[in-house]
Amino acid sequence: MKTIPLVIGNWKMNKTIAEASALVKSILAMGPNFKDCEAAVAPPATALFSVGELLKGSQLRLCAQNVFYKESGAYTGELSPLFLQEVGCQYVLIGHSERRQYFGETDADVAKKLHAALAHHLTPVVCVGETLQQRNEGLTVKVVTSQIKKAFEACSVAQMEKVVIAYEPIWAIGTGVNATPLQAEEVHQVIRKSLADQFDKILASKLRILYGGSVKASNAKELKAQPNVNGLLVGGASLDAQEFVAIMRA
Ligand code: PGA
Repeated sequence: MKTIPLVIGNWKMNKTIAEASALVKSILAMGPNFKDCEAAVAPPATALFSVGELLKGSQLRLCAQNVFYKESGAYTGELSPLFLQEVGCQYVLIGHSERRQYFGETDADVAKKLHAALAHHLTPVVCVGETLQQRNEGLTVKVVTSQIKKAFEACSVAQMEKVVIAYEPIWAIGTGVNATPLQAEEVHQVIRKSLADQFDKILASKLRILYGGSVKASNAKELKAQPNVNGLLVGGASLDAQEFVAIMRA
């Protein structure tokens, strides 16, 4: 099923507050069309508030790059879902491969964060994907279905309706080598099938599954044209207003 596409720009650990404000102003100044495309930007935590202020009254949404699963307490360095709500986030990335790789996030953490996000009316964008070695060993389906199963184990159908999934093959992130549209479509189908088995077919057909990994304006259209690709999660290319808006237009 084709839903209105969702494009999220993940700025990662880039942009000072001043740079983030300038970037978001340039994006809005280009007058992107929000009728055919829902879009969000995910600035670093320090810029969430100022970017959120600039987004007020616009249709561009605010996304956080991470969240912790507790509301408050002795968790040095973490971000409460309450803080994200307060600055106006609507989306939050969960389990990005960089979080898994550098900060030891496990599938169990992903599940806990997902529930914390849902409990605070934040739309979780749960990231899954295999390494190059896993792909070469033919383990893609196994790895991705296991990540999906563990993330959503304790979810109800009603909760699942609020979830977004992002398939991001790790070998395609920041490498300039995107998955081919067919490779992306194949895994998106696997994810949908696995959700149909775990929940039900109707729900699975409605869930938004984004592709991420070296998305640029030049490959966005082809990737997006795949029947099971419902949007794009963009890293590097989202740091450039023109490129990001071109991806939205694609
Ligand atoms: P990339 O990153 O577009 O720079 O490959 C995607 C991501 O990590 O979300």
